[in-house]
Amino acid sequence: MNNTDSISQRALELKPSLTLEISALAQSLKNQGKDICSLSAGEPDFDTPDFIKDAAIRAIKEGQTKYGPAGGDPELREAIAYKLKTVNNILTTSENVQITNGGKQAIFNLIQVLLNPGDEVLIPCPYWVSYPAITRFANAIPIFVDSYPETGFELDINKLEQNITNKTKLIILNSPCNPSGRIMNLEELNKIAEVLRRHKHIYVLSDEIYEFLISPNEKHYSLSGIAPDLIDRVFIVNGFAKAWAMTGWRVGYLQGNVEIIKKAIALQSQSTSNVCTFAQKGAIAAIKNSPKGIDFMINSYNERRNKLTVAIKDIKNLQLESQHGAFYAFPSLNKDLPDSLEFCKMALEREGLAIIPGIAFGNDRCIRISCSVSEEIINEGIQRLTNLIQNL
Ligand SMILES: Cc1ncc(COP(=O)(O)O)c(C=O)c1O
Repeated sequence: MNNTDSISQRALELKPSLTLEISALAQSLKNQGKDICSLSAGEPDFDTPDFIKDAAIRAIKEGQTKYGPAGGDPELREAIAYKLKTVNNILTTSENVQITNGGKQAIFNLIQVLLNPGDEVLIPCPYWVSYPAITRFANAIPIFVDSYPETGFELDINKLEQNITNKTKLIILNSPCNPSGRIMNLEELNKIAEVLRRHKHIYVLSDEIYEFLISPNEKHYSLSGIAPDLIDRVFIVNGFAKAWAMTGWRVGYLQGNVEIIKKAIALQSQSTSNVCTFAQKGAIAAIKNSPKGIDFMINSYNERRNKLTVAIKDIKNLQLESQHGAFYAFPSLNKDLPDSLEFCKMALEREGLAIIPGIAFGNDRCIRISCSVSEEIINEGIQRLTNLIQNL
């Protein structure tokens, strides 16, 4: 028997995250001395603000270095429930909130405790890379609902509803969206609420991790905030990684129906246990000073997203509708250009440019370009992209 025979069926099907792989490849080429310009980052280029670091350092010095409750620090759960009430109009309590190792574990927990093998999950496409992988790991079935660059990736709600079967258990929403940057508007969310009222067996996972990273003239809406009657069927995933530049701290949360949250806590108590005790103290400082403590980062992403968008629109053979959230652009490749994987391979080999192929997000005719780098790197990356396309 070889080792591969010993690996479980579901682990055999598990592939590492393509986005993390490409960022790591770009970094290792750079370390080898290659001239690499990377617009592949999926994380803030800011350091965590000092007031957050100070709170965590204080906690370490005060000896907050022991096991904590698996569901999370009660003060943090309380602060998140308060934020959800005051910012998102969601009447909830700390009992409905679980603290997780990043938003990723919140998604993993929910899918593990909600889905049975064979359940179907509707995932609008393009999607964040981990949704289908985590769904498949639970032996559930991702069903993709396509949206298109020409319509700015607007979700066709009729198409979403047409894909509902008696096996559909979950719909995953992500606004603002990684990779497209699109923000769902109130009208769309109201239509989704209507769909849920017609199909009472369906739950929603609403990933709002980029909530604060939006242009000043945009507004973020939470589905359970605008449709309080659905509060027990909508789960919010959120976290501290993006808006507070805390990717390495691994603090996120899941909010929703208390019975399901209790099971998610049981799962975490049997797997990773509590999130790092003093990291949670940093998160308390973060959430209590928001968004004023992070305004400068939000403004900076908005400026850089605008610049990136304008520059991409000037490149022949790329198409882009302006979007106003997260820190990415997701332009499409005109038909004369190769598919995304081939295109990104050429970008790295010929120009030393690291960008993420859209295939990682379910669209092989788009590429994801991050603006979470300095303006000089954005300009350099745009130049290399232009050169690549001109010379193809
Ligand atoms: C849409 C989306 N959801 C969730 C996550 C997970 O974030 P975390 O680092 O908190 O696990 C990411 C990270 O890239 C993301 O882009």
